[in-house]
Amino acid sequence: MADVVGAGVAEGVLQAINAYVDPWLGRSLGDLKAVRALRTDGRQLHAELTLPVPVGGYREELTDALNQALARAGITQILELQLTADIPVHAVQKSLQPLPGIRNVVAVASGKGGVGKSTVAVNLALAWAAAGARVGLLDADIYGPSQPTMLGLAGRQATSSDGKRIDALVAHGIKAMSIGMLIDADQPMVWRGPMVTSALTQLLSETDWGELDYLVVDMPPGTGDIALTLAQRVPVAGAVIVTTPQDVALADAVKGLNMFVKVAVPILGIVENMSTHVCTHCGHEDAIFGSGGGERLAADHQTVLLGRLPLDARIRAEADSGVPSVVAAPDSARGKAYRDLARQTAAALARRSRDRSSLFPKIVVEDR
Ligand SMILES: Nc1ncnc2c1ncn2[C@@H]1O[C@H](COP(=O)(O)OP(=O)(O)OP(=O)(O)O)[C@@H](O)[C@H]1O
Ligand SMILES: [Mg+2]
Repeated sequence: MADVVGAGVAEGVLQAINAYVDPWLGRSLGDLKAVRALRTDGRQLHAELTLPVPVGGYREELTDALNQALARAGITQILELQLTADIPVHAVQKSLQPLPGIRNVVAVASGKGGVGKSTVAVNLALAWAAAGARVGLLDADIYGPSQPTMLGLAGRQATSSDGKRIDALVAHGIKAMSIGMLIDADQPMVWRGPMVTSALTQLLSETDWGELDYLVVDMPPGTGDIALTLAQRVPVAGAVIVTTPQDVALADAVKGLNMFVKVAVPILGIVENMSTHVCTHCGHEDAIFGSGGGERLAADHQTVLLGRLPLDARIRAEADSGVPSVVAAPDSARGKAYRDLARQTAAALARRSRDRSSLFPKIVVEDR
């Protein structure tokens, strides 16, 4: 405690801060070992806190909540907060190792095509970046890459500055790689099974991603060979399953979910896309596909509903124009829905166990 708490800080202060249960992460700050330093100049308290999630936009809310907790504990000094993120490496499939430089790979998948995976993947990546994380986006859809268009990179070709690794392209602050950036999208290409998996693993391992907190993988539709191979070969910290609320889509979502369960990739949660329809004319919202489907699916499979997104023509228009909603309209209802989803997904990952090899130093036994 002595190395954390400076002179003159009343005894109850650290106690009150540590006892505070963060509603977003569902754990106490003490449990999270969040407090890095605490000092006072007599009048004010200054605390340095670190959380295992992107914290952009959270400082004010947490400061207010902590000041209320301190007041309840009878402490009248006002707390000022310095809040940083330290996003840990989380555990992956037992047979695989986390990738060097990439802290967490998060797959965005579904059982069925066209439910909004690519739109969720790009907005999730951009929302994490907006909250301060270092983020990459890998378009794993070899047959129908969407990310070049969604990121406004259509027609751009990736190059290599060292002749060894491919430089990721950068758009709206995230790094991106897609087969669409390596081949001419207008030329028809015949892909055979083994070529597809090797193209994918090359995209992943031969791209210079730099240091990333999250690499979001936009998965191809379905639970076919490609998706399965990817789930088995790529060290994934967690998967997000996208579904629409209709029963048929939900049945497919179960297949998508089970594929990850089979290869021991943790499911972070469910995203219900096109939950309600927002009328372009009057803004009225209607649950045209029924309601509660995502919630039931999550409950049936011991996971959580990470977010619900409206069916809104502007979401499609913004993605098509290369400026997804999180960047085009961050404060709109749809922008906020994606940002909330990113928050919940980061929290779901933070609740998972960490990679043990990055927690403890490797012990090397030398032969003499
Ligand atoms: N919430 C939404 N509101 C309106 N349009 C949406 C929404 N989500 C996705 N779309 C649109 O629906 C179409 C399909 O979305 P998207 O490409 O993200 O799905 P996908 O699951 O990745 O499809 P595929 O299986 O072909 O890869 C796109 O035109 C997209 O702009
Ligand atoms: Mg897609």
